[in-house]
Amino acid sequence: MTKPIKRIAVCTGGGDAPGLNAVIQSVMIAADNLGWQCYGIRDGFNGIMFPERYPEGGVYRLTRDKVRGIGHLGGTVLGTTNKGNPLHFPVNMPDGSIREIDRSDELLTYFATHEIDALVSIGGDGSLTIADALHQKGLKVVGVPKTIDNDLDKTYTTFGFDTAVGFATECLDRLHSTAESHQRVMVVEVMGRYAGWIALHAGIAGNAHAILIPEISFDIEKVAAKIREREASGHVYSIVVAEGATPKDGALDVVAAAEVGHAERLGGIGEHVAHDLGISTGKETRVVVLGHLLRGGSPTSFDRLAALRFGAGAVRALEAGHSGVMVSLGVSGVSYVALEEVAGRMRNVPLEGDTLQTGRDLGISFGD
Ligand code: F6P
Repeated sequence: MTKPIKRIAVCTGGGDAPGLNAVIQSVMIAADNLGWQCYGIRDGFNGIMFPERYPEGGVYRLTRDKVRGIGHLGGTVLGTTNKGNPLHFPVNMPDGSIREIDRSDELLTYFATHEIDALVSIGGDGSLTIADALHQKGLKVVGVPKTIDNDLDKTYTTFGFDTAVGFATECLDRLHSTAESHQRVMVVEVMGRYAGWIALHAGIAGNAHAILIPEISFDIEKVAAKIREREASGHVYSIVVAEGATPKDGALDVVAAAEVGHAERLGGIGEHVAHDLGISTGKETRVVVLGHLLRGGSPTSFDRLAALRFGAGAVRALEAGHSGVMVSLGVSGVSYVALEEVAGRMRNVPLEGDTLQTGRDLGISFGD
């Protein structure tokens, strides 16, 4: 018979996303209602791996007082990190080289010593891969998918995406008037890594004339032709480009080398696109990089509700005896999928999907 749960821990890993606090709040309250104690781990797993950094405690008891009034706040009260994956922890060797070691057993020891029976791990691909490894080693774990990029497999949506798309759309709305006043081409670079969800959704909602996404490599001359075609009628232009978009004639230098223990960083495609369009069309161009602004702010009501459903769903999964699963949110509600089916996989914009087709039907150029 499996041991009944008395204590759980919750942590947030990877880049922050609006809605994280609502998940934490939901997990804590749902657990408390079952008579379980809930603990928060600071900064991913750093609160356990580097106790010396946290004189006030790297792991602390979450009570109703601690989560009251946080559901509408951006960021995460637990803190987060996208460095120091415990499965591939970078260590400086005496000869100056860096070796990666697996420190996950230290986490298991911590949970066993402190009688923490289960973990709710809220994070993206990296965090869910770690969650799966901990589950394989015997810890009860439930994952909650988090990313503004919407690129996680096996869930229709994640929290944070709607907030990011809403903000990017508002920015596009604002850029139309200044583009029109100056008759300029405005290039707006949005986050999304190697998936074009934010660019596609915000671009269509915000009336962009061209949208460049990683799923469709672009020919800059096709975009320039679109601009010229509209030029005669005095139309303004805004182009949304996802940070991972690539031209047909080869990748540009827009990916910073990955530091050890950190995912590679993207950025700079907007400058390339604006430069090349300026030369090709002779028009004045400007670039706006929305970057981390997309990760900030209060979650929309859609994201807040999704986050609360994810959190309560995670606790229900543990109560039902599940482990090694991720809470998934689909059109028919919450369900559970094996973490091993999610770890290391990403979900791209489907080329045959109706959202992309809607863009094409509206005459938006995808640079192909
Ligand atoms: O995964 C979310 C994301 O916002 C990506 O779209 C972006 O490339 C990345 O995070 C940037 O993260 P950071 O600057 O925090 O390393």
